[in-house]
Amino acid sequence: MSARSRGHVFLVGFMGSGKSTVGALLADTLGVPCVDLDALVEERRGGSVREIFERDGEAAFRQAEHEALEAVIDGPPAVVACGGGVVLSDENRSLLAGAGTVVYLRVSADEAIARIGDVTGRPLLAGAPGMAGALLRSRESLYEAVADLSVDTEGLTPAEVTARIAREMRAA
Ligand code: S3P
Repeated sequence: MSARSRGHVFLVGFMGSGKSTVGALLADTLGVPCVDLDALVEERRGGSVREIFERDGEAAFRQAEHEALEAVIDGPPAVVACGGGVVLSDENRSLLAGAGTVVYLRVSADEAIARIGDVTGRPLLAGAPGMAGALLRSRESLYEAVADLSVDTEGLTPAEVTARIAREMRAA
C-alpha cells in the first residue's frame, strides 16, 4: 500500500454511480468506517438533501457539504461516499487530493437515471431528469482531474466494483 492509501478513500462520481453502496462494501473490505457525506450534511444541517435545497438553497447546501468534508478529513481514516457535486469547488478538489485516494465511479447518464429510479430525492434531477446527460458531461473533467483511479461501473455489481477498487489500490 502506498503512503497515500493509508489516508481516506473518497468515492466520487455522478448521482447513481453507486458511491454509497460501494462505499459500505469497500469500508468492510478495508476494515474502516464508511461515511456518507450527504447523510452527514443532513445530520449537521437538519432535514433531507431535498429539504435543505428547498429551505436554504443550493449555496447553503454546498457550504454545509464543504464543512462536512473538512470534518471528515479531520477524523480517522474512512471510506467517504461523496455527493456527486463535491468536485464543483476548487477548494473541495484540493482537500480531496491532499487527504487520501480518490476513486471515480464512472456511469452513463442513462444507467444513472435507471439506477436512481425515483429522482425526487435528487433536487438537481427532479425538475428535469433529461438534463442528466448535460450535467454529467459538464462534470466529467472535474471527476477525472481529481481521481487517482477510475472504475467503469457499467454492467458491474457493487461487489464487483468494490473488488476492482480493492485490487487496484493494492496494485498502486
Ligand atoms: C448532488 C448529488 C447528491 C446530493 C445532492 C447534489 C449533485 O448526492 O449531494 O442532491 O450535485 O450531484 P449523490 O451523488 O449521492 O446522489
